[in-house]
Amino acid sequence: MAEEKIVKEKEDIQVLLTEKRVFEPPADLAANSNVKAWMDKHGIKTLDELLEKTQDIEWFWKEMADELLDFYKPYDKVLDWDAPWAKWFVGGEYNIVHDALDKHMKTAVKDKVCFRFEGEPGEIKEWTYADMYREVNKLANAMRKLGVGKGDRVGLYMPMLVELPVAMLACAKIGAIHSVVFSGFSATALAERLNDCDTKLLITCDHFWRRGNKVALKPQADDAMKLSPTVEHCIVYKRTGDEVPWTEGRDLWWHEITADQPGECETEKLDANDLLYILYTSGTTGHPKGIQHAHAGYAVGTAATLKWVFDLKEDDVWWCAADIGWVTGHSYIVYGPMILGATSVLYEGAPAFPEADRWWDMIEKHKVSVLYTSPTAVRAHMRLGEDHPNKHDMKTLRLLGSVGEPINPEAWMWYHKFVGKDNCPIMDTWWQTETGHFMITPLPITSLKPGTATHPFPGIAAKVYNEEGEPITGAGGHLVIEKPWPGMLRGLYKNPDRYKDVYWSRFKDTYLAGDVTRMDEDGYFWIQGRADDVLNVAGHRIGNSEVESALVSHPKVAESAVIGKPHELKGESLCAFVVLMQGVEPSDELRAELREHVGVEIGKIARPDEIWFVHDVPKTRSGKIMRRVIRAKAVGEKVGDTSTLANPEAVEEIGKAH
Ligand code: PRX
Repeated sequence: MAEEKIVKEKEDIQVLLTEKRVFEPPADLAANSNVKAWMDKHGIKTLDELLEKTQDIEWFWKEMADELLDFYKPYDKVLDWDAPWAKWFVGGEYNIVHDALDKHMKTAVKDKVCFRFEGEPGEIKEWTYADMYREVNKLANAMRKLGVGKGDRVGLYMPMLVELPVAMLACAKIGAIHSVVFSGFSATALAERLNDCDTKLLITCDHFWRRGNKVALKPQADDAMKLSPTVEHCIVYKRTGDEVPWTEGRDLWWHEITADQPGECETEKLDANDLLYILYTSGTTGHPKGIQHAHAGYAVGTAATLKWVFDLKEDDVWWCAADIGWVTGHSYIVYGPMILGATSVLYEGAPAFPEADRWWDMIEKHKVSVLYTSPTAVRAHMRLGEDHPNKHDMKTLRLLGSVGEPINPEAWMWYHKFVGKDNCPIMDTWWQTETGHFMITPLPITSLKPGTATHPFPGIAAKVYNEEGEPITGAGGHLVIEKPWPGMLRGLYKNPDRYKDVYWSRFKDTYLAGDVTRMDEDGYFWIQGRADDVLNVAGHRIGNSEVESALVSHPKVAESAVIGKPHELKGESLCAFVVLMQGVEPSDELRAELREHVGVEIGKIARPDEIWFVHDVPKTRSGKIMRRVIRAKAVGEKVGDTSTLANPEAVEEIGKAH
């Protein structure tokens, strides 16, 4: 599978090889950058030298931890590596909330704005670090009173409101493990995640605003809780004040249970390696994987990468325009920025709503200096046209960022020209839910080439391997990480075997990222996309098998195969081939019904863009669906040898369906 993709990748490289443009960062930005100051302190002159020296990972990450973290009790050892299990800052007593909030109460950060919230209807509310501290403490006290404590799992099903970071930090404060579920997921998807980690408490809200509509969340949470018997209580934050269904005894209003709680709450002193959160992400098979992250390693990884890559300074206004329901929001809206004491913009609603220039207007109004978003969002804005950013004074911007999928050079150039006015370097950051923080990324001193995430971050041992596990340059191969890193996942919830199998079994003691990549002659990493069947739609990972199971759970569907097709806005679009139960007639109504069904089973983001009815899908003799063959046929590429298939005629039908 991966091999085939790599062959395909070689063809793509020909296109990218024509991309020869190099953009140097503005000289003053590079000269005054955080990373440059650190290099000067350590007598390091060039980027190459920095990358070379920091391959002593224990030395480097100790330096970072000593600069950025504050332990209750110092650690005895930087790293304990018993592959594939890592412990960082062993013996240290720690809690991330101490660094994200408590310690700021003793400095000027206390009165600094932590979040500048803008609701979709337009209201603006500022939360200082002192406000955050008080609200987190009140909620943490209320949760403790409900009997929630160290190691308990708390589900957070909330939209983009400041109360979501408040709830995350309140969990961490008392040593509970949060599991945020994206508010766009359906009740069924929520229930699956709540059940997987035996969630004790769920926190949600009544409704929230999206594209001018009120989206009801509490009824979805109710449906999920019917299927999740471990949930004892549900705390509901009142966002819009509209009526919601209520279960007396189980449901509690956030404002009522926090009203009488004190604004102080003791932070639980944890082991540095205790779990901070679980976040579910898609894999190729079966259920979503519960990625686990631990306190101290994750804290230093997110803070150090943000400080160096986006060069955050005292007076920057940072806007990470991701949703907190995904890892980007966890690391770069909540934990990283708060450890650094940064000011963030947090926006509730849809981009380009109600007007196409909403984002650009917000950048001007909030004086945003660093913007971090996805190629999908850039392409959507590109389509709306440059007149919209051109209408606004965005000269406060000094750096831009991209994440989630490869950014095509055309979108890169548009972003650079019309948003950054040719003056803001674009930090194309490659990382994953599993890695916790940036792994391959430019720094403000890196020469940029459009379309590449450039080099590994200092202290990250990334390589490209061929099938034999030898490091290669100039050809497509497997992106791997040879040494542990502080923010790395600490296994999958209750599933150590799957952890070993998925990430550590292909190459010995080496992390397999699952992305096909090529390193060019200058050591730049060109990430091409997934080597497996995992889809990337609008920067969100969606497991083909999840969509297939959702389709098959419909009584009229016998079998399905889901593939990704290139899509000019979303990166990939979902295309489903469906085999119906005998006697069921295909129709447009059924197509619409199946789309809706997937929406209910998983969420709107997973609804297939195309559904094709076929009699059979191509399979191997052992019954494995050949998605690679289907994809090739569907997009008109060379299919290759089909003689090993059990049903080669099914390939022809796929072709005719298009
Ligand atoms: O395929 C890569 C792609 O997104 C995957 C990780 O998805 P997820 O865990 O949902 O996290 C997304 C946000 C960190 C990767 O395996 N990806 C992420 N960033 C990039 C990227 N592909 C190319 N370039 C990137 N900058």
